[in-house]
Amino acid sequence: MARTATLNIDGKTIELPITEGSEGELAVDVTKLRDQTGYITLDPGYRNTGSCVSDITFIDAEKGILRYRGFPIEELAEKSSFLETASLLIHGKQPSAEELNTFVNLIAKHTPVNPGLLNILKGFPQEASPMAMLSACINGLCGYHPEVLDIERKDFDETSSKLIAKVRTLAAAIYRHSVGKPAIEPADIPGPAKAGNYTAKFLQMMFGEAPKPEVARALDLIFLLHADHEQNCSASTCRMVGSSHANLFASCAAAVCALWGPLHGGANVEIMNQLEQIHKDGIDPDDFLKGVKEKKYRLFGFGHPIYRNYDPRARILSKAAEDVLASMNVSDPLLKIARRLEQVALADDYFVSRKLYPNVDFYSGIIMRAMGVPTEMFTVLFAVGRMPGWIAQWKEVRDQKGKIYRPRQIYTGPVNQTYA
Ligand code: ACO
Repeated sequence: MARTATLNIDGKTIELPITEGSEGELAVDVTKLRDQTGYITLDPGYRNTGSCVSDITFIDAEKGILRYRGFPIEELAEKSSFLETASLLIHGKQPSAEELNTFVNLIAKHTPVNPGLLNILKGFPQEASPMAMLSACINGLCGYHPEVLDIERKDFDETSSKLIAKVRTLAAAIYRHSVGKPAIEPADIPGPAKAGNYTAKFLQMMFGEAPKPEVARALDLIFLLHADHEQNCSASTCRMVGSSHANLFASCAAAVCALWGPLHGGANVEIMNQLEQIHKDGIDPDDFLKGVKEKKYRLFGFGHPIYRNYDPRARILSKAAEDVLASMNVSDPLLKIARRLEQVALADDYFVSRKLYPNVDFYSGIIMRAMGVPTEMFTVLFAVGRMPGWIAQWKEVRDQKGKIYRPRQIYTGPVNQTYA
């Protein structure tokens, strides 16, 4: 028999259905609550609200578990590539060699960006925020590919690979614009289209020279680890915009804006600024943490809206940071500072009692810095990595054919004023 929860309200008793997920997560289904009682649920920030059922990503925040389509993130990090993982997220199953090849070739085909759009990019001031340029350019793509406005089109593979391909070209062009250099034509980048070299080609489009394989592999890992994270702020934004039947590109441009904030993807910029400041001013990391505990500022790259344990992505990147810097023969004092901050924080009651651990942003910036990526570009790279997740989330909303997202509120403003 289906389980229910019993609610007594205003002398009336109603039964609310209980929904159980495949990992045993439980939810009380309140979709009929208002019709039956006149009440709504109140949950500012939606922290206790399941906004959807989803097959894409599973997180156990208490245990620090993350799985894409059922595959543990640690296993994907070790054995998969960013593009194979992207295909897994978007298509819902591990691709066969042939399917992956088709996906990779579609991405190669769609890599060039219309010169008109690159001209628009040139119109931005050189010092414009790369995230402003990225969100504008992704939306701008709709103007050059009006076919994506028809969201009922059957060739979703074309549309989604177009976005994954063009966002890489745009991100590289944005970097080059911000350093006063012309974009590199994708056609000028040699090498076969292979799942493993999406990031190598990206780095080449940014810097004009082929990266060391271990450097490309490290960025591939960063992208893979960022590829999805269930109903976070930007994914929820993407779903919400998509629920209005806005097209995929517009929904992902909105997600880029959500990611921009320092409490979300923008934290990778903030933590790097903090580490640089600690280094430049010779601040003792222990003293810096005193300021955090006195709530003068937050320690960026620490804490998470849902993890109450070590973010599994941070664990992988902590090790990768060490390996990449060693392979590049780079000794970065910021890594030492980050390690000290982590060590002290994890032994301090302030952080322990609040269950604050390093999140994905804590070490990713150190790796990107070693590659020569400027800090302002970090969140753009995060967006390139997150694109498959947003695409999968958007597609799921479309496939579920649900209603437009429309939360309610409890109004607390003035009542019935008289106009003077
Ligand atoms: N540094 C210091 N104190 C912190 C931090 C931090 N990074 N994060 C949370 N706290 C403290 C808060 O001050 C609060 O203390 P209190 O109980 O004494 O009031 C307590 O921990 C709970 O904090 P909340 O803000 O309620 O926790 P929330 O779950 O809303 O915050 C967030 C999550 C926004 C990520 C937060 O931890 C934070 O600001 N971290 C720094 C920014 C960051 O790294 N963001 C990236 C997140 S991962 C991602 O989006 C990719």
